[in-house]
Amino acid sequence: MSSSKFTPDSSLDLLFSADLISTEVKSQLHPDVHIRPLASTDYHRGHLSVLSVLTVVTDPGEQAWLSQFNALRSSAPRSSPPTYYTIVVIDKPTDQIVGVGTVFIERKFLRGLGSVGHIEDIAVDKNQQGKKLGLRIIQALSYISENSGCYKTILNCSDANIPFYEKCGYQKKENEMAKYA
Ligand code: ACO
Repeated sequence: MSSSKFTPDSSLDLLFSADLISTEVKSQLHPDVHIRPLASTDYHRGHLSVLSVLTVVTDPGEQAWLSQFNALRSSAPRSSPPTYYTIVVIDKPTDQIVGVGTVFIERKFLRGLGSVGHIEDIAVDKNQQGKKLGLRIIQALSYISENSGCYKTILNCSDANIPFYEKCGYQKKENEMAKYA
């Protein structure tokens, strides 16, 4: 294994603290991969390209990508914990992203001012699927949600992906409704 190109977390500008990533999940990863928060330089590590396994992706250009990164980082009111957590799995030898996922935290008036974690935009590079990276991403996002005090973590998916989420410990509940603008 060569990790000469790999950029360590300490030299990166991250969306949130790397301390919020489960050490148990990290310890279960193959040594050639690393899991961490999205970094401000990840536009150049194939972030959008990995997302394209999920849906059609339009590249907004680096500056617009960076503006979105900065807006998401400052989305929480000052002195409150972050609300938006995107994580990436990095292939260390190439320093490229091979998996992504997000959880954002909804704070409610219900459930004793409780919170709900919403998992979104899970994608694993086609060449890396079937190696438990998707499972580790869901475990890491669920850990963030639970550690943020969420009483539940939810997501929408296709019927084809139900068995995957069941393997991750999730159960089918209710239905999704959508209205596109
Ligand atoms: N049907 C049945 N079982 C599945 C499926 C599936 N579609 N996908 C994974 N599994 C099983 C695996 O066989 C494995 O089972 P095992 O523990 O018995 O061996 C377990 O689920 C974990 O699989 P992983 O290897 O972690 O899955 P992978 O890394 O390939 O990631 C993912 C799964 C994220 C669905 C990936 O295939 C992918 O990126 N697909 C395209 C994009 C997509 O559909 N994303 C999810 C959209 S939903 C959302 O974003 C909330």
